[in-house]
Amino acid sequence: MDYFSYRNGQLHAEDVALAAIAEAVGTPFYVYSAATLERHFRVFSDAFAGQPITLCFATKTNGNKAVLALLAGLGAGADVVSQGEMEHALAAGVPAGRIVFSGVAKTKAEMAAALEAGIFQINVESEPELEALSEVAQALGKTAPVALRINPDVAAATHDKIATGRKENKFGIDWTVAPAIFAKAAGLPGIAVKGVAVHIGSQILDLDPFRRAFERLRELVLALRADGIALERVDLGGGLGIPYHRDDPASPPPAEYAALARRIFGDLGVHLVAEPGRLIAGNAGMLVSRVVYRKQGETRTFLILDAGFNDLIRPAMYDAFHDILPVTAAAENAVLTPVDVVGPICESGDIFARQRPLPPIAAGDLVAFATAGAYGASMSSTYNGRPLVPEVMVSGDRFAVVRRRPSVAEMTALESVPPWLAKQA
Ligand code: LLP
Repeated sequence: MDYFSYRNGQLHAEDVALAAIAEAVGTPFYVYSAATLERHFRVFSDAFAGQPITLCFATKTNGNKAVLALLAGLGAGADVVSQGEMEHALAAGVPAGRIVFSGVAKTKAEMAAALEAGIFQINVESEPELEALSEVAQALGKTAPVALRINPDVAAATHDKIATGRKENKFGIDWTVAPAIFAKAAGLPGIAVKGVAVHIGSQILDLDPFRRAFERLRELVLALRADGIALERVDLGGGLGIPYHRDDPASPPPAEYAALARRIFGDLGVHLVAEPGRLIAGNAGMLVSRVVYRKQGETRTFLILDAGFNDLIRPAMYDAFHDILPVTAAAENAVLTPVDVVGPICESGDIFARQRPLPPIAAGDLVAFATAGAYGASMSSTYNGRPLVPEVMVSGDRFAVVRRRPSVAEMTALESVPPWLAKQA
């Protein structure tokens, strides 16, 4: 459920026409609906009502400061995977006590920054990382609140590049050796073992892999308790999928996901942590772009947009489907014609959709990519010398630019020509 809709033939985000935003900020741009973000967060948090839980929005999904500030205002924390994300979340007003630091390659500098900031939890993914963290914490005279991320060896039906819970993936500590690593962690001076964490992948549309992973975690918690290691937290990770295509299997309702977690962990008396990302932000954002040319090729018609894969990489990277909507609604009886929707980048892979049946769309028209609020702007780049596109947040009938488009001078300001070349010039 989102708050994008056609009104009087014009696609709106809440009460604002996307065409009006295009007029004000130029294209392409990302637009986020505050009401949709809020709704998704509440649906998720309501599903866990009564259960002690810290809901840490996965910052990598959409790290815009306004998005983080909005969610923080609703009680969200943040799951971060770098010092950059952590500092950004703190700057957006996410309390340190609601920040979880995940990731396979935390450096000692990042560990120190996390400990200085006093964050809620550091999720450790390997034995060497555990040792490094203990050393850093000791040197600072601190104790690191740690969850060990377990690799449960559970395959989830999702794109290979975003499945993370199989034993051949780089993530987590193999569940078979986890008890030994927990025992080691319990004996390390700089480590306070708080819990166990898991994250089996993203865009998962079936609850069963979650069930298998959670059951493995439960067994582990019980086995460790029997060994005298009392875990007080279980971090469920993220991964719940959302609909991108009308033929996608129905996505599991958060209430069912929460019921599953309660069923498996309810009697353990643990504090839960969840790291949802896509579920909160995916349907809350669109990427709006203008058609530069409509080109008739020998065998295909191309709609060439001013947005490229540098702005939205998901189709090129994961063959992901995004609905493409004309910003001005097509006539009811409009004939759909298959077109290839492509960007301006000098690579054949810069293609958003092949042979997509679309109503008549001409050069100069605006189109919107649906479900672009997650892993859209956050994965964009400046390839081909293209500035990062603006991000706009809508709330009711207001909108604000929440990241402006940089000038080319700002983009290149960090570069310099070495003196020996400058002399030649
Ligand atoms: N927690 C951890 C440790 C993660 O690695 C991730 C995502 C999440 C939480 C949030 O997962 P979500 O609820 O959003 O599924 N760029 C890809 C998705 C990569 C996901 C990486 N990890 C895409 O565009 O589909």
